[in-house]
Amino acid sequence: MTHANSEQREETMSQTTCCACAPAPSEEELGARLDEVLAEYRGKPGALIPVLQIAQGLYGYLPETALRRVAAGLGQSYAQVAGVVTFYSYFSTVPRGKHLVRVCLGTACYVRGGKAVLDAFKQRLGIDVGGTTPDRRFSLEVARCFGACGLAPAIMIDDTVHHRVKPAAIGRILARYADTTAPKEETTCDSPTPQL
Ligand code: FES
Repeated sequence: MTHANSEQREETMSQTTCCACAPAPSEEELGARLDEVLAEYRGKPGALIPVLQIAQGLYGYLPETALRRVAAGLGQSYAQVAGVVTFYSYFSTVPRGKHLVRVCLGTACYVRGGKAVLDAFKQRLGIDVGGTTPDRRFSLEVARCFGACGLAPAIMIDDTVHHRVKPAAIGRILARYADTTAPKEETTCDSPTPQL
C-alpha cells in the first residue's frame, strides 16, 4: 500500500469510527434494531422489562410507536406494556434531557436533607420533577434508593452517584456536566444499579 493510500484509509477509518459524528438513526432504523431485540427475546419468560430497557436505550425514551412494536413483538397487549412502563419511574414516555438527574428520596436520604437537595435542583434547573430543561440538557427525577444510604443524601447523574450532596454544591456539580462528557472524579457507588 502506498503512503497516499495509507493516509486515505486512515482518514476514511477516522470518519467511519467517530460515533459522536454519526447521524442519529432514523425511525426506520430504530424499528429494525428493536425488531432484532424482539426476535432475540421472543418466547423467553420475563422478557418485557429487559426489552423495554433496551428500547429506551435505543430511542432515548419510550414513544408509543416503540411500545406498540414491543407489544406486538412479544404477543402482549398494548395496555399490558403501557401499564408496566407507567408503573416503573425508570421508564419515560417523553424525551429526556442529555443528563438525567435523580435525587434520592429514600428514608436515609430524606431525613438527611434529600428534600432540600431536590428543591435546590428544581430551583436551579427551573423545572419540576419529571421535567426537562428547555435546552434538553437535564431531566429531573426522584428515586427511592441507590444503595448508598450511609453516604446520604445521594443523587445520581447518569451513571454517577454523588454522595453527601449539599444544596449549596449543586451549581458546582451541574457545571461539570456543562460539556458533553460526564465527570469521572466524583465518588461513585459500588453498586450503582438504579432500582426500578
Ligand atoms: S435512601 Fe438514598 S441511597 Fe439509600
